[in-house]
Amino acid sequence: MDEITIAIQAAQEAGALALRRFRQPQEIRHKGPADPVTQADQEAEELIVHTIQRVFPYHEFLGEEGHEAPADAEHLWVIDPIDGTRNYAHGVPFFCTSIALARYGQPVLGVIYDPTLKETFHAEAGKGAFLNGQPIHVSRKTELEDAILSLSLVPARQVVNAHVALPMLVRLQPLVESVRIMGSAALHLAYTACGRFDVGFQDTVHAWDVLAGVLLVQEAGGIVTDLMGQPVSTSAHDCIVANNVSFHDAVLRAAREVAAGRKS
Ligand code: 2AM
Ligand code: CA
Repeated sequence: MDEITIAIQAAQEAGALALRRFRQPQEIRHKGPADPVTQADQEAEELIVHTIQRVFPYHEFLGEEGHEAPADAEHLWVIDPIDGTRNYAHGVPFFCTSIALARYGQPVLGVIYDPTLKETFHAEAGKGAFLNGQPIHVSRKTELEDAILSLSLVPARQVVNAHVALPMLVRLQPLVESVRIMGSAALHLAYTACGRFDVGFQDTVHAWDVLAGVLLVQEAGGIVTDLMGQPVSTSAHDCIVANNVSFHDAVLRAAREVAAGRKS
């Protein structure tokens, strides 16, 4: 079985597991302040790792629920078993499973599966991006005032270093048509890849939140960098996604203004 086939299978099985447990009573632990984890998160990560390991026993795993490996490994699977855990734990049907494979830090494939809507997004480097097998493309909007901007606000209690989402939101909100804060970074990126959203940024993320989505957006014709304008890799901490250069520039400019404001 090839890598993309097993990645899609693992994502769909993990998503199905999450959906079976959705809105059922289950134990919720807290990894830290305002950082819930359910039994389904842990079981879904185990399921994904076992499914892939059976076929690729020498590959390594970096997962939100405990798997650790060097970010520059030759074959590194980067896994978020449930992205949107807080939605999931509150019965809100906006969450997904995200799986990327990276070679020496760079994503080569990405799968995002939304079990509620049965939507499978996948991309392989150089081969385009797809939703349920059909090619997808970022939106063709050219005016920022028509754009939908997505972002996440990580709970303030968790943020060790001052984060930039709020001051960036203040700068960007007057320029766009509308803002969405949906609670799943991975789905924000998948929605940008297929043209539902036009532009977005995430600060304070981990690679497992965004890496599959980063490749999806790039393969769908969009632009992705970190908040410094550099490529996003397995050591991701933030990212900007956009359908075109001028939308990307607008977010990058806002990030630079925020950074400059902090220094002065
Ligand atoms: P999660 O649901 O897997 O925790 C909106 O909250 C988005 O930011 C989600 O994708 C969420 O991932 C992610 N997120 C939440 N808390 C975070 C934190 N402390 N650090 C990084 N990402 C976080
Ligand atoms: Ca996540």
